[in-house]
Amino acid sequence: MKIVQTVAQLQETLAPYRETKTSIGLVPTMGALHVGHASLVDRSVKENEVTVVSVFVNPTQFNDSNDLKSYPRTFDADRDLLESHGATILFAPTVKDIYPEPDTRVFDCAPVDSVMEGVMRPGHFNGVCQIVSKLFYAVEPTRAYFGEKDFQQLAVIRRMVKILELPLEVVGCPIVREKSGLAFSSRNARLTEVQRNLAVNISAILRESINFAASNEVGETKKFVEEAIEASEGLRLEYFEIVDGLTMQSVSSWNDTDYIVGCITVYCGEVRLIDNICYRRQA
Ligand code: PAF
Repeated sequence: MKIVQTVAQLQETLAPYRETKTSIGLVPTMGALHVGHASLVDRSVKENEVTVVSVFVNPTQFNDSNDLKSYPRTFDADRDLLESHGATILFAPTVKDIYPEPDTRVFDCAPVDSVMEGVMRPGHFNGVCQIVSKLFYAVEPTRAYFGEKDFQQLAVIRRMVKILELPLEVVGCPIVREKSGLAFSSRNARLTEVQRNLAVNISAILRESINFAASNEVGETKKFVEEAIEASEGLRLEYFEIVDGLTMQSVSSWNDTDYIVGCITVYCGEVRLIDNICYRRQA
């Protein structure tokens, strides 16, 4: 695995692959890699001749400076994990290399960016679009891989790719969960052992809500999840929305659309955790 730190080095490394029209998979990450990231890398390695993984904690997507400061940074372990999963290039740029000058671009990915995380974290998706578009321009991947845990982010990126007419495939990959059901997340590293046991209830409640939804309408199911989270020790609900899986807009009936997902954000102590569950998906 080759480690490159600047966009210029990356271009130089990719040049021979471009000449031979080699397929390139890109896995954008902010490091602190875990089994969930590894599954994206595995998928890319399987589907492409070359896999580029970026490790870059993108400052423009953090609307809370403490969150940026406390974001885990584990470069040596990340490098080892990527090497063992067969990544071809690790791209680990500095902030200066990515943003030699402030990025003033404004992305409008409506309607998918204007609800849920878009409301709770103003500017967050704009920052995500800034970095992901820069990575897409730098790598020119055939395919780019993102986890479905950040379900709304995936929808925003798909929309951005459509608006910018970028010639690549965005591949959404299933959530990877610990045995306990807790979705793998870099933020889990900030949970104490006690909090980790409490956080398990998020996925347990989402799972229970699938059975509840079988004989109850959307509004009742939303209330079921909200009340169960509020009643769970150590958890504080930020939002739970049941939305169309493509537009991210709230639905009011299970018959509204063929793809329905429940998206949740919960604080466990100071740690903000997100998760989601699919209620309905018809081809
Ligand atoms: O999901 C993440 O880790 C980040 O939002 C991403 C897509 C790597 C952009 O910084």
